[in-house]
Amino acid sequence: MPEPALLRVEGLEAFYGDVQVLWGLSLSVRPGEVVAVIGPNGAGKTTLLKAIMGLVRCGRAGGGPALLYDGRPLDGKRPEDIVAGGIALVPEGARVFPEMTCRDNLLLGGYLLRDRAERQRALEEVLAMFPRLAERVRQPAKTMSGGERQMLAMGRALMGRPRFLLLDEPSLGLHPLMTSTIFQGIQRINQQGLTVLLVEQKVTFALKMSHRGYVLENGRIKMSASGQELLRDDYVKRAYLAV
Ligand SMILES: Nc1ncnc2c1ncn2[C@@H]1O[C@H](COP(=O)(O)OP(=O)(O)O)[C@@H](O)[C@H]1O
Ligand SMILES: [Mg+2]
Repeated sequence: MPEPALLRVEGLEAFYGDVQVLWGLSLSVRPGEVVAVIGPNGAGKTTLLKAIMGLVRCGRAGGGPALLYDGRPLDGKRPEDIVAGGIALVPEGARVFPEMTCRDNLLLGGYLLRDRAERQRALEEVLAMFPRLAERVRQPAKTMSGGERQMLAMGRALMGRPRFLLLDEPSLGLHPLMTSTIFQGIQRINQQGLTVLLVEQKVTFALKMSHRGYVLENGRIKMSASGQELLRDDYVKRAYLAV
């Protein structure tokens, strides 16, 4: 029997006011997978992640739940309950608190943990995962590089001990070397057992490390396959890899 999906999206529609931006979108993420969603600017990638977090009005074509997490509907749940259920979003642009130190930014991510000792344990785990953060714990976040701030934003999400991590363009604005460092970090996170849904425009990096991928265009899934198959696909090559 195939393993049931951790997240199943079925016929998802999403709206800003009266404007519909996702149209009958279906995808699934199985436990332990890294799944990439690639697509151009404005395709609806961020909206998909916001829909999963309960941050945008959405529904299902034909009615019924559009979002099943661990077999249970997420539709209509409040964002804080979705977070408490083990889903964490790292939004685009590595938003951290600039005046606060790296350490305090991380501790803020552990606010749901029961006590100080547990927060301290989570902090040590995150610092072990990202040694560059360990070297910078006392530094105000604003003095850190773009890549380090992205690590910090991911580390802060991990402080809440999620099962399922949503990443919105983690490599945005980073040079290739730092991009590769960030993707190695994502791979380590996945090897620790976290399931990852990754939205990216750096298609080669994203598909190389993903078990499966989906191409999202104009609010609709255009195709899906394994990461390797998508990298070899003629359409993907022409549209996204400029070869
Ligand atoms: N807050 C908003 N209000 C109205 N329209 C929005 C809003 N956010 C995004 N959109 C529109 O929704 C579409 C999808 O946007 P988005 O999900 O941000 O795409 P992507 O992340 O793939 O670049 C775009 O046409 C965008 O202009
Ligand atoms: Mg976006």
